Amino acid sequence: MRNIIVGFLGCGNIGCGVWKLLSEFENDIHHRSNVNFQVKRILVRDMKKKRDEIIPEELLTTCAADITDDPEIEMVVEFMGGEEPATQYMLRALENGKTVVTANKMALALNWHDLQATAQKNNAGLYYEAAVCGAIPVIRTTIDSLQANRIEAMMGIINGTTNYILTRMSQEGSAYQDVLRDAQRLGLAEPDPTSDVEGFDAAYKISILSSLAFHARVPFDVVYREGISKVDALDIAYGKEMGYTLKLLAIAKRDGNVIDARVHPTFIPREHPLSSVHGSFNAVFLHGHACQDMMLFGCGAGSAPTASAVVSDMLYAANREKPYHPTFSNENKLAEGLTVTDDWRCSFYIRLTASDKPGVMAYITSCLGEEGISIRNLMQREAVDGHAQIVLITHQAGECAIHKALDAINQGDAKVESLIRVEGK
Ligand SMILES: NC(=O)c1ccc[n+]([C@@H]2O[C@H](COP(=O)([O-])OP(=O)(O)OC[C@H]3O[C@@H](n4cnc5c(N)ncnc54)[C@H](OP(=O)(O)O)[C@@H]3O)[C@@H](O)[C@H]2O)c1
Repeated sequence: MRNIIVGFLGCGNIGCGVWKLLSEFENDIHHRSNVNFQVKRILVRDMKKKRDEIIPEELLTTCAADITDDPEIEMVVEFMGGEEPATQYMLRALENGKTVVTANKMALALNWHDLQATAQKNNAGLYYEAAVCGAIPVIRTTIDSLQANRIEAMMGIINGTTNYILTRMSQEGSAYQDVLRDAQRLGLAEPDPTSDVEGFDAAYKISILSSLAFHARVPFDVVYREGISKVDALDIAYGKEMGYTLKLLAIAKRDGNVIDARVHPTFIPREHPLSSVHGSFNAVFLHGHACQDMMLFGCGAGSAPTASAVVSDMLYAANREKPYHPTFSNENKLAEGLTVTDDWRCSFYIRLTASDKPGVMAYITSCLGEEGISIRNLMQREAVDGHAQIVLITHQAGECAIHKALDAINQGDAKVESLIRVEGK
């Protein structure tokens, strides 16, 4: 049996989950892979902290070099979170030729080029299945199982917190702030929810996923990002009436050399497979030229599901003769020859309030018509205080054209209250 000496960077939610899975599943791992993982040291911040698992005290350290610089440690598994010092510690471990397994999407999305270059230079492996969508094997599926495909589009619900919030807003008609408070009380949202609700977390993940899917680095900073904190329950209700479900989608599309990558609240038709992904579940829907449509669904976070991905990476690394490195040029900028567009095409949901007088509707349609935009669905509500509520969904149009049309509408007797993009057939 091959004994692999391992160091942990961190031992919180995920670290304890990995410890537990390695302990409980030890015999199966021995039997299936002929590998024994022996955890030698664990980096933490506070040696006295009570943990979910009973960890032998002599394993804990507050000195990262006890792990990154220990020649006996062959594999370093990182679940500290945050960009720094996690990135520096992983770089150090890679410089020392150690395999690194990480669950840290932020550190990876922001510093992938450095981490990968260092891994390659030192013939070390870098693995990150757990960094995107917890237990769902979306990284390995993209790299291995779909390698005979040109992936043209990916749309994902890849943040469980926001999906939980939007699901409850939709089912109960509750306001965003009320559901967020509840999610925080239940431990489903962080005390500072910014990374989740403003779409940063999903943007890190789609940057990683789309780079692998398109075989070209799509850096985090080219991903358009809009969160859910301004979503109004009224729009969710109107969308529902018109047959749509609101989700925070991470979207990446490639058409020739033009890419668009974005995270924003999105209406999808009720019949679309992503529409039935509720609560904190995650799913990625993709289209490849050969595999056609496909959806991967499962637990995108949590201690045990994420540990499933981490331990799978540890085994994947242990069983490879040579480390895996992506074949595209992994730099901190968009690959040469590619462009990112902010003028993507989709349909648009628009809610307006308008003076309840003749000609207003004609004015709105003419502003849209000027930009070549036509209306697919229209709904009008009774006027209150002389103001009518108009909700419409356009046919496919360009992002820039829509903004021009809305600017023109706002100059007249109507006011645009919300704009939400619509995807899916
Ligand atoms: N939670 C999820 O469901 C989930 C899912 C997928 C991926 N991830 C990723 O997994 C990573 C860890 O998440 P988590 O929920 O396990 O976080 P967590 O519970 O906060 O655990 C972080 C661990 O790292 C240690 N740590 C943090 N900063 C440190 C520093 N500067 N020096 C030494 N130790 C330090 C902490 O030590 P102490 O224990 O002493 O404080 C703790 O043990 C993150 O990158 C996250 O994005 C999480």
